[in-house]
Amino acid sequence: VKKLLVDVDCGVDDAQAIMMALAVPDVQILGITCVQGNTSVENVCKNVLRVLQACDRMEIPVFKGISKPILGHVLSASLFHGHDGLGDAPDPNAPGLELVQKEGAVSAIIRIINEHPGEVSIVATAPLTNLALAVKLDPTLPQKVKGLYLMGGNTDSRGNTTVCGEFNFAADPEAAYTVLNDYLCPTYIACWEFTCLNKLPWEFCDVWLAQDTAKSRFMKKIFQNSMDMRNNERICKELILGPGFVPCDSFAMAAAIDDTFIIESDHRAVTVELTGKHTRAMMVVDYLDVLNTTHKAYIMKKVDLEKFKELLMNALK
Ligand code: BDR
Repeated sequence: VKKLLVDVDCGVDDAQAIMMALAVPDVQILGITCVQGNTSVENVCKNVLRVLQACDRMEIPVFKGISKPILGHVLSASLFHGHDGLGDAPDPNAPGLELVQKEGAVSAIIRIINEHPGEVSIVATAPLTNLALAVKLDPTLPQKVKGLYLMGGNTDSRGNTTVCGEFNFAADPEAAYTVLNDYLCPTYIACWEFTCLNKLPWEFCDVWLAQDTAKSRFMKKIFQNSMDMRNNERICKELILGPGFVPCDSFAMAAAIDDTFIIESDHRAVTVELTGKHTRAMMVVDYLDVLNTTHKAYIMKKVDLEKFKELLMNALK
């Protein structure tokens, strides 16, 4: 059994990633921790509960985390994810926030990792505020984490939010810096360009959503707003580097679920630029080993896309 702790800013692609993991029989999700990002942390909690309800998995505990970045202001991703973070397709029967655990996300992360040392992998598809604060409170945490799977950052200077910053890093650069520098556990990164280069054809998406299931209908509803972007030429050209279905967060999730998913990666030291006027939040990859750090992350380069499609298909079955 693979034990996962999932940290999200549930967003439509976070929902896809969660549903992917829920559909795999030997994956056990010990908790879902929420953080601000694609929408407010309250909306994130509500969205996670909606996803769990759609999958009939309300037994999974949901924890509310941090509502602001360590420094700077809150960003918005409503263009893609809708104002509520889940495509502005409300459900009158959505579960209420009273179902969120009393324990906060940061303390839940510390507790769960310490209860199962060496056994739990963390999948983080959000700004890294919760994880950064967790390691500051418990510096022994990283040595007990089995693996850290991140969606975020970029390997060249092309951002998707600020000039050079990818959303999850730009939404809390100090947190991204802390996590990349302090979590000295095996770390796997699905960065922005990588996910764009591995986009799936919209034809696959049509087949994916055409499955005659309740989960598929749920996905179709929450995904409509993002799918409308397929007709937006500027977005296609400038942001997602060409048309196609880019389920960003699911790449990190698939890597955590299946050890054979990553076929090729770059093993490099990575950090985050914090001070540049234009480059703040940019992920910095140390190709020349100038930083002289022993800890290196695996930056995904090539993955098993057939496996990926299969995991996505199963997510909506
Ligand atoms: C990342 O930003 C968010 O909007 C998505 O959910 C994904 O995690 C892509 O840059």
